[in-house]
Amino acid sequence: MPSKVQELIRAHDSWRGKQCINLQPSENILSDAVRSVLSTDMAGRYTLRSNEYITNGGASNSYGGTRYLDEVEALGEETASSLFHGAHASLKPMSGHIASLLMVASTCRKGDTIMAVPSADGGYDGYGSGYIPDIFSLNYRPLPFDRERWNLDTDASVTSIEEAKPRLVILGQSFILFPYDLKAIRSACDDAGAVLAYDASHVMGLVTGGKFQDPVGDGVDIVVGSTHKSLPGPQGGLFITADDGIWKEFGRNTTWRIIDNAHWNRIAGVAQALLEMKRHGARYAAKIQSNSASLGKHLHAAGFECKFSSLGYSRSHQLLIDQPSLERTGFTFGSLSGMLESNDIIVDTTGRLGTSEVSRLGMGDREMREVASLVKEAMNGGHVKSKANKLRRRFKISYA
Ligand SMILES: Cc1ncc(COP(=O)(O)O)c(C=O)c1O
Repeated sequence: MPSKVQELIRAHDSWRGKQCINLQPSENILSDAVRSVLSTDMAGRYTLRSNEYITNGGASNSYGGTRYLDEVEALGEETASSLFHGAHASLKPMSGHIASLLMVASTCRKGDTIMAVPSADGGYDGYGSGYIPDIFSLNYRPLPFDRERWNLDTDASVTSIEEAKPRLVILGQSFILFPYDLKAIRSACDDAGAVLAYDASHVMGLVTGGKFQDPVGDGVDIVVGSTHKSLPGPQGGLFITADDGIWKEFGRNTTWRIIDNAHWNRIAGVAQALLEMKRHGARYAAKIQSNSASLGKHLHAAGFECKFSSLGYSRSHQLLIDQPSLERTGFTFGSLSGMLESNDIIVDTTGRLGTSEVSRLGMGDREMREVASLVKEAMNGGHVKSKANKLRRRFKISYA
């Protein structure tokens, strides 16, 4: 007889995994290959290779029986490295946030200043005062942002960086639509002696697919990010750098400082997802971008407004709902999410829509039109659950 846990998982899987249309930009759907990797024997094993920081009493590993685990990790690192033009790559961080902790630990000292996009402008909350800067006793300064273009205010950011002389400048946002002018910020960081980092948590799938922008190619020192938002891997984190000194510091800060067991089934799952991206990433990322533009356009035609129509809505997997026009229809972000969930259409409660998962399923312009009309019908009081289920069931995972 199945346990209560197994029953709950079965219910969740058949609902979220097979019936719902998921428009949350922080999530994605795993290929069958990645799912199967997660539940293999590797889930219960350890490996801890000797390196310049860990000597293991002269042995090459603290554990026995690690040969395949070590090979899988090396393959994952190699694949990530090739997707980022030969930079050093680690799959050890257990999440985007842990990768960020490793980045800050590997670059900053007590009393240093870091700069990042503030959360009020869609930046990641973790970089703000009271969170990561607080743990490491750092000062936080916001990067100036232009809300009209939903992008860095590049000139003001350059001036601020040159004035504040931060140790670390972090680009990237939780609400990210458009690429940045990396070259201008790179040169300001050079003048200020700052390390330039890019938190690609949200856009990792677009970046590894060769779309959006090329942080390492444009001179960014560190790329960190989640492996499970636009990149369709299991939940985890990546740390990438082409700088040998930073890579060395990352090594020193990893085992026994921020990480011990790095969860080897997860690492194997990320490695598998990276192989999938190497083969299909360019087509998948292009599909995400065209679906974001299509969804924005079809929602507009249905009378539902997303922001930045004059800029083509987005170059990422996200659309930002126009709050004033939504509120004129009597909905808030939260009540819209609740009402759509009762119709098996899942959106977050912060005003974002995401196209990664529907793209991964192989949906295109025609389906974006259908999604837009289902959303609008539901907002007008229609019951669209069975139509949403029917649309979802027409698709299986593509690009895997
Ligand atoms: C820009 C950004 N960085 C880091 C994180 C943390 O990532 P994770 O949830 O993988 O720890 C998030 C989470 O949403 C994020 O949006």
